[in-house]
Amino acid sequence: MEKPADVSIPSGFSPIISGTMVGPWSIHTPSPGTSARNRQHRCGDGWIFRRRPVHRAGPIAFAGKAMTSTTSPFPEKIQPQLRAIRPSDAEALCAIFNMPGFRRGTLRMPFEMVEQVERRIAKSGQETTWIVAELDGKVVGHGSLVVQGSPRRSHIGEINIGLDDGFVSMGIGSAILGALLDVADNWRALKRVELTVYADNEPAIRLYASHGFEVEGRHVKAGFTEGRYHDLLSMARLRF
Ligand SMILES: CC(C)(COP(=O)(O)OP(=O)(O)OC[C@H]1O[C@@H](n2cnc3c(N)ncnc32)[C@H](O)[C@@H]1OP(=O)(O)O)[C@@H](O)C(=O)NCCC(=O)NCCS
Repeated sequence: MEKPADVSIPSGFSPIISGTMVGPWSIHTPSPGTSARNRQHRCGDGWIFRRRPVHRAGPIAFAGKAMTSTTSPFPEKIQPQLRAIRPSDAEALCAIFNMPGFRRGTLRMPFEMVEQVERRIAKSGQETTWIVAELDGKVVGHGSLVVQGSPRRSHIGEINIGLDDGFVSMGIGSAILGALLDVADNWRALKRVELTVYADNEPAIRLYASHGFEVEGRHVKAGFTEGRYHDLLSMARLRF
């Protein structure tokens, strides 16, 4: 989970990284029936449509109800451009950090300062993969994978993801997480990727479950948000 002081691709997912299409995504010229939402996400000479992932997670329990990832009420998905973060992203990122929906899902404080974000970007080193998602050149979200510093825990990475409140439920979180898991599996050889999430953050829990994360435990009243204590869940994805 996104913390206040510091600054995690299953088969079937293939993001566009730094403008290069690396997987089974299709670019089409928009047909007259193309929805307004898809039409605004243009790339080069075409529009990008995201294929639904082949891998589907099994049912997971949420708030006493069984949820299956095959019954998503959010069918329209788009594919952002993903690239490494730059120092010049600090202002855009800070604006996202200060959005109420973002703050509600993370451990961030109100009124975060651009200078704090600048410092965090400058401080991040080779233990960190930190990317942003762009649509039409606008930063609409970010995600980081931070590898543990201790040699005996260097097989572990922690994931943080968050989006602009206006761009949730469009598949951007899935694209960011898929790219970070590709780095974890195929470039850093991580065995364990972990995160914490509010127990009532349904979109986030669905996202992580559909990418192979499982709930490992519950931290009762561990997060303070909007004047109340909330439970947090530990989730992890293992590759031993
Ligand atoms: C959590 C977050 C990263 C998810 O990214 P997203 O782009 O909105 O999610 P996606 O569109 O990729 O969808 C992911 C899954 O959640 C489901 N989902 C999306 N929005 C949902 C909603 N409002 N309610 C329930 N489920 C939802 C999707 O159907 C999808 O499930 P599926 O893979 O089984 O089809 C994003 O909502 C966000 O940034 N929220 C604010 C900050 C935050 O909570 N960060 C997480 C900290 S742990």
